[in-house]
Amino acid sequence: MPGNVPGIRQGNMERRIINTDLTEEDSKVESHLRPQALEDYIGQEKLKSTLKVYIDAAKSRGDSLDHVLFYGPPGLGKTTLSGIIAHEMGVNMKVTSGPAIEKPGEMAAILNNLQEGDVLFVDEIHRLNRQVEEVLYPAMEDFAIDIMLGKESSARSIRLELPRFTLVGATTRAGLLTAPLRDRFGVVAKMEFYTTQELKTIIIRSAKVLEVEIEEAGALELARRSRGTPRLANRLLKRVRDFAQVKYDGVITKEVADFALDILDVDRLGLDNNDRAILLTIIQKFSGGPVGLDTLAAALGEDAGTLEDVYEPYLLMNGLLNRTSRGRTATEHAYRHLGLVKADE
Ligand code: ADE
Repeated sequence: MPGNVPGIRQGNMERRIINTDLTEEDSKVESHLRPQALEDYIGQEKLKSTLKVYIDAAKSRGDSLDHVLFYGPPGLGKTTLSGIIAHEMGVNMKVTSGPAIEKPGEMAAILNNLQEGDVLFVDEIHRLNRQVEEVLYPAMEDFAIDIMLGKESSARSIRLELPRFTLVGATTRAGLLTAPLRDRFGVVAKMEFYTTQELKTIIIRSAKVLEVEIEEAGALELARRSRGTPRLANRLLKRVRDFAQVKYDGVITKEVADFALDILDVDRLGLDNNDRAILLTIIQKFSGGPVGLDTLAAALGEDAGTLEDVYEPYLLMNGLLNRTSRGRTATEHAYRHLGLVKADE
């Protein structure tokens, strides 16, 4: 699967260790670390309890689950939850993504190959092109596709019935979804950042799966610096494990975690050089803001959408950045975190 975020070039910001894109290595490790049952899934408590109701209800009716849309920053578990839905419903999951499907016929073929009740997971669903998306409308609503036969005056369409299935869509850019597509999802769920405690539990669980010894304090430090994102927590865990093996006696202690994460330039709040570059640019080039998103993106050589959907949410949640009607501003907390003093207005 491609590593980059939807339609987005990497710009001239650094390729980050704490980049939240799914890499091939993550894919392998994640499928290994991923919980399969809802009860093993840590965090997203509210979403989990509502999903459980919908799953139990659909199962007791002997029906497929309604279509589900997950949105939110990358790495928070959209694919994992989709797999859990399939597992809990006792069906198979087929995986594809918006940019992978170029022609309506390809989507029709995927739909036609589904079995009764199957989950079709479409990652980056906002990147489906219009013609492909239109195949989904009757498929989602009536479990049917319309196939055009012939041309011009002799053209007619035939309707092909599909098995009942569940579409699970995932997107980091909910705002880019068209209204007709969004409206066809019965469940629309926002993925939230994880708390430090939740991440710590995930890290301890992953360490067990990877057979790495980790102390509580080491797990806590890793959790603190994983910017609320399990994918990062698992990736950092593996890098820190390498340092533990080579430089220490193999056990991940707080000292090892601190040592490794400092070398990886992941700071105490989980920010990396790119996050700091964003805040420093606002502070030093734009006097702390406000600066418009596009202007800021141009100054950083980064795509505005990536800034908005990948970098900003965590900075916002941590009170380091504000979005105002006139643009982005760096907060007092950002100045303090970077060891800077805000000049008097
Ligand atoms: N691994 C990655 N995300 C997880 C989660 N939310 N719960 C348990 N293990 C995970």
